[in-house]
Amino acid sequence: MKTMKEIIIGEMINGKETLQEIENVRKNGRDLIREKNKTKEIVGALHAESLDLKVIEIREETKGSKTFRLASKTGYLPPFQAGQYINIFTVIEGVRTSRPYSISSSPKQRAYYEVTVDRIEKGFVSDYFLDKVKVGDEFEANGPAGEFHFNPVFHYDKSVFIAGGSGITPFNSMIKEILESGAKREIHLIYGCRDEEVAIFHKELEEMARNHDNFKYNLVLSESDKECNFRKGFIDAKCIKELVGVLDDCTYYLCGPEIMIEFVTSALKELKVRPKDIRREMFGSRQDIENEPGWPKDLTGDEVFKVTIGDRVIDARANESLLTAVERAGIHINVCCRSGECSLCRVKLVSGNVFMPKGVLLRLADEKFGYIHSCKAYPISDLEIMY
Ligand SMILES: Cc1cc2nc3c(=O)[nH]c(=O)nc-3n(C[C@H](O)[C@H](O)[C@H](O)COP(=O)(O)OP(=O)(O)OC[C@H]3O[C@@H](n4cnc5c(N)ncnc54)[C@H](O)[C@@H]3O)c2cc1C
Ligand code: FES
Repeated sequence: MKTMKEIIIGEMINGKETLQEIENVRKNGRDLIREKNKTKEIVGALHAESLDLKVIEIREETKGSKTFRLASKTGYLPPFQAGQYINIFTVIEGVRTSRPYSISSSPKQRAYYEVTVDRIEKGFVSDYFLDKVKVGDEFEANGPAGEFHFNPVFHYDKSVFIAGGSGITPFNSMIKEILESGAKREIHLIYGCRDEEVAIFHKELEEMARNHDNFKYNLVLSESDKECNFRKGFIDAKCIKELVGVLDDCTYYLCGPEIMIEFVTSALKELKVRPKDIRREMFGSRQDIENEPGWPKDLTGDEVFKVTIGDRVIDARANESLLTAVERAGIHINVCCRSGECSLCRVKLVSGNVFMPKGVLLRLADEKFGYIHSCKAYPISDLEIMY
């Protein structure tokens, strides 16, 4: 006797073939030979080489930040892990460049991704997003990518999220995922901002904390002189200890500008938190690269060097990343994280010297064969590179 499923499928267009296929798969497992021409399609849907996105809604979050809701032009968005980012490409003043933005919406919502962009003073792309981008604009992007997400095998169930400024965005996605799923994971969010007005998602986070016992939210204001109930100062060891209570058996996730991450990392060290229990996502590195430890004393940062790439010679300023110089010259190399993590922007340094800030990790093979991450390499002599 036929099952209800067989009756329904049998009446569909190509229903008989579909039923036969189901039977084959049941008996023999998935028939990869028959599917061989579809492999690219199947893999491509999950790990798309590029995403064609369209802005379908824009919301102002604070005076200096907006959320952009992005739908796929092809109707399909790959799944992502809460905490991952997409790298959005755009052309501004004739220069094609990109910036990574964490997905701030829940991974359970697959009809769209949302990214929330905060204004960086004189920021090339953030200014553009906040002042020029409108509903209907289209963008290419790559990702979702990144390792800043919960891992049930290695991470504790008690999560301490510590955000600075726009670093709240991946946590918005992670918190929503946990609360929507009804998981009983304990979450503490400590959010550091200058004052309440610039705290992104603040009202929404307060509301979520009111409705869920397993989510504790604390805003910490560093520059506010107004009377308020929020904690004031920086997120130091004392603050973390008082707000989190028991510090053992927690995984700590830090996200925000480099300076804040370094400060909080030292606080956690003071509290004897093991480095393996700290996960970090850096949103922006310091602007004054020439003040980094190890920067050559005889360079001011304003020097312009010649970079030879094949038959082209371009100018590159010492205090700007090699990637920026290459993009400005209209040369496109692969790129994703723009923060030294993913290795996609690797180029071979044929001759010359670059400065790389501390903490930039190169694979052993890259180091051995002379590859560098162009997003985190600053020219300090004339160079020749290959990509
Ligand atoms: C994985 C990842 C996820 C990110 N997600 C988000 C996000 O969800 N929302 C968001 O608003 N931004 C996010 N960023 C930062 C974003 O990619 C851009 O760096 C930011 O928008 C500034 O770009 P810009 O072109 O406006 O500034 P640029 O013109 O590139 O930078 C201007 C100067 O500001 C410095 N700078 C850049 N970013 C910062 C920063 N965050 N804090 C302090 N100084 C900075 C740079 O060193 C530079 O010298 C993320 C970054 C990474 C690496
Ligand atoms: S773009 Fe990821 S390492 Fe440079």
